[in-house]
Amino acid sequence: MPTTQQEITEAIDLAWVRSQFPSLSQTVSGQPAVFLDGPGGTQVPQRVIDAISGYLQRNNANTCGAYATSRNTDAMIAGARAAMADFLGCDPDEIAFGPNMTTLTFAISRAIGRELGPGDEIVLTHLDHDANVSPWRALEERGVTIRMVEIHEEDCTLDMNDLASKITARTKLVAVGYASNAVGTINDVKEIVRLAHRLGAMAYIDAVHYAPHGPIDVRALECDFLVCSTYKFFGPHMGVLYGKREHLQRLQPYKVRANTNAIPNRWEWGTLNHECIAGITACVDYLADLGRHANPSVGSRRVALLAAFQAIRAHEQALLRTLIPGLLAIPGVKLYGISEAKQFNRRCPTLAVRIEGHSPLELATKLGERGFFTWDGNYYALNLTERLGVEKDGGFLRIGLAHYNTEEEVERLLATVRAIVAG
Ligand SMILES: Cc1ncc(COP(=O)(O)O)c(C=O)c1O
Repeated sequence: MPTTQQEITEAIDLAWVRSQFPSLSQTVSGQPAVFLDGPGGTQVPQRVIDAISGYLQRNNANTCGAYATSRNTDAMIAGARAAMADFLGCDPDEIAFGPNMTTLTFAISRAIGRELGPGDEIVLTHLDHDANVSPWRALEERGVTIRMVEIHEEDCTLDMNDLASKITARTKLVAVGYASNAVGTINDVKEIVRLAHRLGAMAYIDAVHYAPHGPIDVRALECDFLVCSTYKFFGPHMGVLYGKREHLQRLQPYKVRANTNAIPNRWEWGTLNHECIAGITACVDYLADLGRHANPSVGSRRVALLAAFQAIRAHEQALLRTLIPGLLAIPGVKLYGISEAKQFNRRCPTLAVRIEGHSPLELATKLGERGFFTWDGNYYALNLTERLGVEKDGGFLRIGLAHYNTEEEVERLLATVRAIVAG
């Protein structure tokens, strides 16, 4: 593990990282663009762009045909499934592709809902994105009861005692985020899965926000389902579902007759976005190469991915050590979520802030004019903005760091926010 800024910079090989992403060299009104909008979707390396256009140039075809481009398409999709299996630590047939996490979650909630009715309960949290709330709330029309888990307002962490008390013998499913896309909190997912399983409930994990920042091991977590979206971790606009083989085989999806009952085919309906799937292997390979740059002795792609996330986490935490104290020193700034450096392992580098006298939209607009791409509003973490009472006042300004951001960008952001606040 690197210990000094110099070693961290070497470990991440930031010059190599930035050279992979063509979009990072853009300017806005003569100012270098600074991409702090990763939580809404990250930039992509050139190899992802090449894989997508290369597929369309050479292999554009439907699947399962008796000719070359169709067979190449089948092989390409199998390769992408293997890449995602390495990324999540499972087997390729436990991976299903879909348009995005929200659509996949509605599909799973419909299938699980077929078995639920009055007396059954689902546990959700106030920290979650609405894509891990509304698909489950939809089951209220079947008589299912929803229980919402509270947060600790002071640091926007989940109230684990409340969570434990809400899981009962009636609970059929606990749906929780791996990390919050608004305030960055990383949840103790392994413990949440344990609490769910203890009373016979399934655990459904939304890893969309966590995936670009940390390693995922579905076997170690023992979760029943885990969903993520490749456009949040340097890939194309696609959703990915992991499901334990036994669930994918047993649950009944709504599907067309031509879909076989084999997994994962029974969970993938119609023609998928093949060109984007082609980009998925490229994005996982990019991350594995990042790991090999950080630690040339790593062997398999899975081990290289773990090395990548070690380097990514060290770099992002170093940036946070500048950004958080710098923001808190600006008059009128309120940061929502964990702020102490010794707790950084419990947060992603995603900051929700409000500044007295300035609406989040005004701040995002002024920053945008100066080349800093941030977000304002609730970013669908609606339960949280309502719970914290900021929904009616424009939500938060969200500053989302990714591993391609630099110390210099953070310093310039701080100087720009200081200037905006000073008027
Ligand atoms: C935490 C989290 N969950 C779910 C989603 C929804 O993902 P998708 O756009 O793939 O449906 C998002 C998107 O921002 C998110 O941040």
